[in-house]
Amino acid sequence: MTPHTPDPLDLFGIDYVELYVSNARQAAHFYRSTLGLTPVAYAGLETGLRDRTSYVLQRRNVRFLLTAPNLPGHPIGDHVARHGDGVRDIALRVRDAAAAYRAALSNGATGVLGPTASEDAHGSVVKATIAAYGDTVHSFIERDGYDGPFMPGFRAISERPPVPETGIAAIDHIVGNVDLGYMEQWVGYYRDVLGFKQMVHFDDKDISTEYSALMSKVMQNGSGKIKFPINEPAEGRKKSQIAEFLEYYGGPGAQHIALSTGDICATVDALRAAGIPFNNVPSSYYDDLEGRVGRIDESRAALQERGILVDRDEEGYLLQIFSQPLQDRPTLFVEIIQRKGSRGFGKGNFRALFESIEREQEKRGNL
Ligand code: FE2
Repeated sequence: MTPHTPDPLDLFGIDYVELYVSNARQAAHFYRSTLGLTPVAYAGLETGLRDRTSYVLQRRNVRFLLTAPNLPGHPIGDHVARHGDGVRDIALRVRDAAAAYRAALSNGATGVLGPTASEDAHGSVVKATIAAYGDTVHSFIERDGYDGPFMPGFRAISERPPVPETGIAAIDHIVGNVDLGYMEQWVGYYRDVLGFKQMVHFDDKDISTEYSALMSKVMQNGSGKIKFPINEPAEGRKKSQIAEFLEYYGGPGAQHIALSTGDICATVDALRAAGIPFNNVPSSYYDDLEGRVGRIDESRAALQERGILVDRDEEGYLLQIFSQPLQDRPTLFVEIIQRKGSRGFGKGNFRALFESIEREQEKRGNL
């Protein structure tokens, strides 16, 4: 166990991740039937919300909010037109949203929404929002005692269609891609505004392939529950996957959401059966697997068959796999991760990962 470091903003964890999408109903169908998230709450025309529609999908500690505009000329529609479907809000649960907002602003954050309370028969929720990288924001959510399906304004979805058993249990980390030259600014933002600490450092000598390179720094909050790695493109011979993201997303944004599971083979099988394509891994990656990572509980054949990557550090090892982008634009994707002691992010897999991503980039003519 790591010693608990006090968290200046009293951040408990990720409350939800909101995606702005062009069609929330269809996105809800996709995330239910592929990741196995259950639709639990809804807000839209039928609940008196005129300008937008939102679905809340949940599984264990993973909660997605999918929001689409109902009317033309809506700012959410502008967001979707620019970025495609993507992450708008990585909302953080706090004890006191007004205090967190005040502290963030006094530490240099830009306010997007001042503390706003709403209530219904289930209790009250306070929300306040600050700007982060690109058009991404962080909301502070205070919901102590609230026992409704999500927030005031939402109604529970009672008719629940079948949801595949995927084993996804929590959000492990969310990675943001920022523009070349802006790494230090965003490391400073998470350090100064949110009180995070830098966890690991990969320099571009570690993470480079023949064609592309990037820099990555991991910021985490005091309790270690919230982990936000930040990527910046580095000069490579050809376009890096970070540069490709920035081009197609129209600027900085959330690159991937890592979802944890207790049985990665079963989770990958369920997601594949549901139609999620994963990046291919060269068979040579598995040639000397045990030589690189030592003894592991899983059979090499089971991992190779599924394209699951393994990395080890002083504390243990981790298993991980990366999906292909979840929408037409080569932007947001998911990672499935199972930790067996390691608190890292798969540094030793970066090279293998980027080589496999580059093969996909090449197919799209973007390398
Ligand atoms: Fe990751």
